[in-house]
Amino acid sequence: MDLVDPFGRTIRDLRISVTDRCNFRCTYCMPEEGMKWLPRSDVLSFEEIERLAGIFVERFDVDGLRLTGGEPTVRAHLPVLVAKLAALRLPASSPSPNAGRAPDIALTTNGATFRLLAHELRDAGLHRVNISLDTLRGERFLEMTRRDELPRVLDGIEAAREAGFAQVKINAVIERGVNDDEIVDLARFGRDNHVEVRFIEFMPLDASGHWMNDKVVGQDEIVAAIAAEFPVEQIAARGAAPADRWRYLDGTGTVGVIPSVTKPFCADCDRVRLTADGQLRTCLFATTEFDLLALMRGGASDDELSMEIQRAVGTKWAGHQINQVNFIRPNRSMSQIGG
Ligand code: GTP
Ligand code: 5AD
Ligand code: SF4
Repeated sequence: MDLVDPFGRTIRDLRISVTDRCNFRCTYCMPEEGMKWLPRSDVLSFEEIERLAGIFVERFDVDGLRLTGGEPTVRAHLPVLVAKLAALRLPASSPSPNAGRAPDIALTTNGATFRLLAHELRDAGLHRVNISLDTLRGERFLEMTRRDELPRVLDGIEAAREAGFAQVKINAVIERGVNDDEIVDLARFGRDNHVEVRFIEFMPLDASGHWMNDKVVGQDEIVAAIAAEFPVEQIAARGAAPADRWRYLDGTGTVGVIPSVTKPFCADCDRVRLTADGQLRTCLFATTEFDLLALMRGGASDDELSMEIQRAVGTKWAGHQINQVNFIRPNRSMSQIGG
């Protein structure tokens, strides 16, 4: 059965945060110190994640699962979870291209320890991986992430390519005055390494609250910078994915931009999110959450959990209001929501 929201959007994608912890402290996401971690007892177990994901996949035809954090790879035994999710099956009657088979399983990671996990994750059934890389300069990397890990991240990207995932993409958050002078260098990195780089507009979800609209480098400016060096043409259909995409005219791959601030894509959104502590959120910027953890631990049946999921989706709003007077910042920041 489809999960359809009040605006007629069908939910097909569940983003699952497996931990709120992270081995980096990116300035656009976390403070250097003082982040309050969830107590372990409040974090969903693998069995609980499997049960909830099973309801989404088997009852509601959700055919995409993405594991996020914090940093998902800091959760011990992550391949065990991937294997459990890869064993789920969409109903044979599902409208999905994966009907009767496993959902598409993806991961978003900072890449620092990916070399150690790439093969195990691939063997467990992970299909796709997105790795963050905001700068190619060591000193700036240290400033932006507060960790001196650029070589390990570059090696993690290489490991992801070697492991043969269906897709490896690079996420680069661009912040004005911080790394906006590297747009062309990052685009070149993608071309040289045969990976799609997606430039991400900085969103007001940083824990320190330093986001300001003039720190956002918008999609038009990003594309103009790339096109001045490498001519591109836009690829028409975007579907429900957050990235708009361009093709390099010389045939050397593609590049994307995720324009959450200047060109919100809320009308095509097919996502809901599960936080590490089992709260269902119907939008990145949602201000209400639905407590599936409490329900589950209180003994709720799958039918009861399904009803709560439908109730939550029934409240999904049309879209966020960034830059409008009625915008309310969610009280959890990016790493606590799951990106
Ligand atoms: P793909 O399936 O590979 O397209 O994944 P993705 O781009 O949805 O996932 P990823 O975790 O790599 O996220 C990249 C950026 O897109 C991050 O900054 C996310 O916060 C942002 N993003 C993902 N989903 C949404 C969304 O529904 N709304 C907004 N505004 N941003 C989103
Ligand atoms: N704005 C935009 N993207 C962000 N990310 C983290 N914080 C922000 C922010 N404030 C990105 C990370 C990662 C993904 C999960 O979200 O770089 O690629
Ligand atoms: Fe969907 Fe909310 Fe993202 Fe907009 S901001 S695309 S409504 S999840």
